[in-house]
Amino acid sequence: MKKLVFFASGSGSNFQSVIDAIKNKEITASISGLITDNPKSGAIERAKANHIPVAVIPFSPESHFSVQIEQKLAEWKPDLIVLAGYLKKVPDSIIESFKNQIINIHPSLLPKYGGKGFYGQHVHKAVIDAGDTVSGCTIHFVNGEYDRGSIIKQIEVPVHPDDTPTSLGKRILTKEHKLLPYVINQLIK
Ligand code: GRF
Repeated sequence: MKKLVFFASGSGSNFQSVIDAIKNKEITASISGLITDNPKSGAIERAKANHIPVAVIPFSPESHFSVQIEQKLAEWKPDLIVLAGYLKKVPDSIIESFKNQIINIHPSLLPKYGGKGFYGQHVHKAVIDAGDTVSGCTIHFVNGEYDRGSIIKQIEVPVHPDDTPTSLGKRILTKEHKLLPYVINQLIK
């Protein structure tokens, strides 16, 4: 059975979508662990509720951040690493060791509205300010540059004239929860 490791900083709803897909037998895989930089991440409770091991590895220059992550990955031996709302840059050493085995989900139609600073509501505000009528979500492989690895799959989502960043973000998130399990399933098959 293929092993997944998740990295998440936020509420962890995308992480939950894969936990649920595994429970519902839509994906045949196991989740070996969750890595988070944020001790308050909602993903931690979701992991604990499902008996998934958690490593809280906050970022600081003195923390041997990359070594701690490398040690966890050596222990958990993932076939696929999933960045699901992880707000730190994954160390280059890890990107090198797991070429084409790390994916990220992003709430826009990359290459639009990607890169440093484009996360959460900032993405949706930029889409609305630009007057775009379509946005969406993207899953891509992770390379050394933020949001720039090759695109695996996207879903388009309409932008409504009265949308706020919050309403648009919610509409996109429901599609993310479909896209992520789908792509993981395709990749591990
Ligand atoms: C999602 O919108 C994802 O695309 C982005 O961060 C958000 C994470 O949401 N990278 P959640 O923590 O999975 O609820």
